[in-house]
Amino acid sequence: MKNCRLSWVLVAVLTIIVAVFAYKFTVGNVAPSDDGRQAVLLTKDERNALLLEMRTWLQSSQSVLAAASAKDFDAVVMAATTSGMAAEADTPGSLFRKIPVEMKALGFDTRRKFDEIAAEAAKNKDSERVVAKLSATMNNCIACHAMYRFVETK
Ligand code: HEC
Repeated sequence: MKNCRLSWVLVAVLTIIVAVFAYKFTVGNVAPSDDGRQAVLLTKDERNALLLEMRTWLQSSQSVLAAASAKDFDAVVMAATTSGMAAEADTPGSLFRKIPVEMKALGFDTRRKFDEIAAEAAKNKDSERVVAKLSATMNNCIACHAMYRFVETK
């Protein structure tokens, strides 16, 4: 009997711990920002890693455009793949807990869209379709930048 009660207490405690972790994972490490956006609070190294990722996305976008206008579809595939899902492995694991869930969704969707650009270029070799896909991808850049900032904490 006593053992039974102990196990229920244990179940309750574990449930609370799991719920707290799930909550933290969903909201991320955020604070309101005075410019109306949400500040995602990161260490210096995490912020630098994400900003580097951002500059890679900007560079891929430009390279996709340049290659599409030159109708060099192998170069489109290469430029887009650089920012695709395979590059996610470079992202530090500690960030998964700190980034809000909607932001993660937008980030993953952006990588998927770069992979779709690569697939489109390889399949149809049509620069107009590549440009249209890049334009749709860049709506994610606009949406995320409108909502979030990266702020360094210790
Ligand atoms: C999931 C959210 C998200 C997406 C999607 C996103 N960004 Fe960002 N990006 C950010 C945040 C947050 C910052 C930091 C802005 C700030 O602190 O004011 C940033 C900063 C940047 C910077 C500045 C880098 C630096 O070194 O300061 C560039 C360039 C950039 N993004 C390019 C892009 C491009 C291009 C895309 C789309 C292909 C994109 N971003 C998509 C969230 C995102």
